[in-house]
Amino acid sequence: MVDIASRIIDIPDYPEPGVVFKDITPLFADPEALRATVDALADHFRALGVTKVIGPEARGFMVGVPVALELGAGFVPARKPGKLPRKTISMSYELEYGTDTLEIHADALTPDDRVVIIDDLIATGGTLAAVGKLVEETGAALLGYGCILELAFLSPRKVLETKDHEVFSLVT
Ligand code: PRP
Ligand code: ADE
Repeated sequence: MVDIASRIIDIPDYPEPGVVFKDITPLFADPEALRATVDALADHFRALGVTKVIGPEARGFMVGVPVALELGAGFVPARKPGKLPRKTISMSYELEYGTDTLEIHADALTPDDRVVIIDDLIATGGTLAAVGKLVEETGAALLGYGCILELAFLSPRKVLETKDHEVFSLVT
């Protein structure tokens, strides 16, 4: 059994004083830990008939694409403004440090899609809540949120979790 938590390093006061940044790059650099991480996230959602995984730029791409492949689902990128070439829908949100906006292509999802949103880390939950609102705007079914690491002290479940939308994290 791979210890995923031990491969995530705390970086105090990055990117600004008072924030403890969770560095997942050692986890991704370790082939066994990377495989265990992707398998555990995909296994959790495997029975749900997922058709699309959405991951927010940039670390959500790193986790979301391999999970989508494992699930036999497609991948939809939620990108920072101005990066997607066709018509988009967008949503702004607050981060643990700063504010940002994410966009998806307006035709990326249809009401037939069954969607999970995957990211490396949930802090305040603002990023994934914004992506969740984008999914709901398209009429697709939002099944839940998955991440490697959840910062529970920031109470992201208050923002994300409902009876229809579960939050699954490998490390809390
Ligand atoms: C990080 C992380 C999550 C988000 C979590 O992304 O990858 O997407 O912050 O924070 P929240 O739960 O408080 O919204 P960031 O915006 O730093 O972008 P990056 O992936 O490009 O580094
Ligand atoms: N995104 C938001 N908060 C973060 C943290 N503490 N570490 C890494 N990524 C983050």
